[in-house]
Amino acid sequence: MPPVESPNTKIRPSSSSINDKGHLVIGGLDTVDLAEQFGTPLWVMDETTITAAVAAYKEGLSAYPDSLVLYAGKAFLCLSMCHLLRRHGIGLDVVSGGELHTACQASFPAENIYLHGNNKSEGEIRQALIAGNVKIVVDSESELSLVASIARQLGRRARILLRLIPGVEPDTHQHIVTGHEESKFGLALTDLFPVVRKIISLDSAVELIGLHSHIGSQSHAMEPYWQMIDILADCFVDLQASFGLRLSQIDVGGGLGIAYNDNDRPTPIYEWAKGIAEHVTSSFQQRCLPLPKLLVEPGRSIAGTAGVTLYRAGHKKRLPSGLTYLFLDGGMADNPRPITYDARYTAAIANRMNAPAPLTPLSLAGRYCESGDIIIKEAFLSAESGDLIAVFGTGAYNLSMASNYNRTGRPACILLSAGKAEIIVERETVDDLLRQDRVPERLLR
Ligand code: LLP
Repeated sequence: MPPVESPNTKIRPSSSSINDKGHLVIGGLDTVDLAEQFGTPLWVMDETTITAAVAAYKEGLSAYPDSLVLYAGKAFLCLSMCHLLRRHGIGLDVVSGGELHTACQASFPAENIYLHGNNKSEGEIRQALIAGNVKIVVDSESELSLVASIARQLGRRARILLRLIPGVEPDTHQHIVTGHEESKFGLALTDLFPVVRKIISLDSAVELIGLHSHIGSQSHAMEPYWQMIDILADCFVDLQASFGLRLSQIDVGGGLGIAYNDNDRPTPIYEWAKGIAEHVTSSFQQRCLPLPKLLVEPGRSIAGTAGVTLYRAGHKKRLPSGLTYLFLDGGMADNPRPITYDARYTAAIANRMNAPAPLTPLSLAGRYCESGDIIIKEAFLSAESGDLIAVFGTGAYNLSMASNYNRTGRPACILLSAGKAEIIVERETVDDLLRQDRVPERLLR
């Protein structure tokens, strides 16, 4: 049965409501109290929404004989997120030694971790092989040689997938497209055979178990996935016919979008996952191939809608042109997506949710020294200084892309579950900002 409402099609977390004081409530907790208790800016993550998204993926894949959801850690990762996902029994896609270390520290089962990246370091490959049966998604021929030599040194066998560029483009921002022919990620289809020949010529240090592709992110349409799956299925056929190779895994990447605004219409998670499973089934059956293990790698659609950022509104400024700015106590350092991708968000006044919308918009601008630091260009909110502003859909690619620009500390992150709010990432203090600084003796004189 599909879940009633897919988290990725809603702007607000599943558990949000408005209480009789007119305050925004998430996970049974009044956001005005949360801001009081934990300070602002504050990243709030709703566990109910994460759990519903994971359940929808699992449910959508349930008719397929063998599948695994790999959460793309790049969207939002910390120890608690790893523990939560481990308890849900799903896998993890990591792209750095830092993400892998976080997963290992949270006792994440190594066999369910896949290491990605277009320029993995020797240290990261070593770390993956030492951690156990972490699969490595190989991005280039030279990386293949490096993986083989490290595996040999360690006396281990590397289980790898090859990342292919399918030449398919989804409907999204140019910076987050990855499957097009000039992508920096993956191998060109024409390089598949030479690389496979090389794998076969290597000793048992490397075992090729599957193929991977990821076409891009914040994608709403399904057709590009059908094309990509068919291309990968053709590769399975070719590798079997030419080399007698029977690969056991297909990884179709992530990329399903979320609703940031009313006009965003992403495919619901359950339908996306069911559609992928059905298309892989028919594509492989048409080619008389056995069904491989199916992997999907969602990031944004699991973490995105679960996250809300709470800001305190500071000064308000009206320019002679009529443009009105309301300044937030955060901005591009905690959410670099508007300035980077022109990403659009939806906001609300968390302490006055029932306030009528004005006819003219105001601009919600960040506190950072950059003109482009605008979180929402045109927000139809009757917000004033001192109000608590909630920006929705900030659970993915905010904490993970945050910076210390202007030497500000990153916000705290709390997880809401069963009426409780718990800190999962501490707020950075000014002393945290000094922690890595060193002063050469000569400058102290
Ligand atoms: N798998 C691979 C190999 C990826 O490169 C990505 C995202 C994913 C899975 C997860 O994609 P998702 O389900 O989250 O769309 N910083 C950008 C997004 C970059 C996505 C990079 N790769 C943003 O803020 O929109």
